Amino acid sequence: VWERLVLVFASALSVATLALDNGLMRTPPMGWLAWERFRCDIDCEHDPKNCISENLFIDMADRLSEDGWRELGYVYVNIDDCWSSMERDKQGRLQPDPKRFPGGIHKLARYMHDRGLKLGIYGDMGTHTCGGYPGTPMDKIMIDALTFAEWEVDMFKYDGCYSNATEQEQGYPFMSKALNATGRPIGYSCSWPAYQGGLPPKVNYTQLGEICNLWRNYGDIQDSWDSVLSIIDWVFENQDVLISAAGPGRWNDPDMVS
Ligand SMILES: *[C@@H]1O[C@H](CO)[C@@H](O)[C@H](O)[C@H]1NC(C)=O
Ligand SMILES: *[C@@H]1O[C@H](CO)[C@@H](O)[C@H](O)[C@H]1NC(C)=O
Ligand SMILES: *[C@@H]1O[C@H](CO)[C@@H](O)[C@H](O)[C@H]1NC(C)=O
Repeated sequence: VWERLVLVFASALSVATLALDNGLMRTPPMGWLAWERFRCDIDCEHDPKNCISENLFIDMADRLSEDGWRELGYVYVNIDDCWSSMERDKQGRLQPDPKRFPGGIHKLARYMHDRGLKLGIYGDMGTHTCGGYPGTPMDKIMIDALTFAEWEVDMFKYDGCYSNATEQEQGYPFMSKALNATGRPIGYSCSWPAYQGGLPPKVNYTQLGEICNLWRNYGDIQDSWDSVLSIIDWVFENQDVLISAAGPGRWNDPDMVS
């Protein structure tokens, strides 16, 4: 994940500025996220080992907890896109795909907690997620924040596909308030800057630090070394902006390497 890249790029040189006051991520979060490798593979019938299902996250939890990663600080096991059902339930709540997550997200969260790990989940502030699943626009923010808190999720990545700049200006801060209002500390990862070019004046890193624990500055990492290098180049070129944006509780996220 963010792991080494975050540690390298977002380290100690930061200015003491206000951070989101949820007590979380005083050091850069470390863990694993499904997207870079497993994408939106939902074909569990033909590809049971690689499809987005509870088995994949249970496997990763076992690896992190049994192979020594947890002791090094890799504690987040994060679900990305394509986990949910195409329909909300009768009460309007998001629900996991019943075939691929038969135990439900709450049970998966408990599996993590029993092993000293944390569970992250994914949503999108547009009408749909990037993969075409139900989004979390303004009118769904409260109910989805509450659902994640009830499931005892520990981190939430809020993507930005199918939303415009005006909606993002309203939605990202509002989700921050909604997560806080649930009473459960939930690490908040905002994809907002990645949708606005990653740089001021379009991106206000002072504000981001006040509402998010972590933010995706730039495009997705792809499954290639060239992609890693292009992100490193971008971070290098813009290091003056990025270094001063980071600090305890507020971090740049150059994207995961799973
Ligand atoms: C909510 O915000 C208040 C004030 O910033 C803070 O003291 C509290 O710890 C936050 N609670 C959660 C669950 O994030
Ligand atoms: C952004 O989206 C909202 C909701 O769909 C719409 O009402 C608004 O006109 C859009 N704004 C711009 C600048 O495209
Ligand atoms: C950026 O956000 C901060 C904190 O919310 C605010 O005080 C400041 O005015 C904003 N800057 C700009 C250029 O909008």
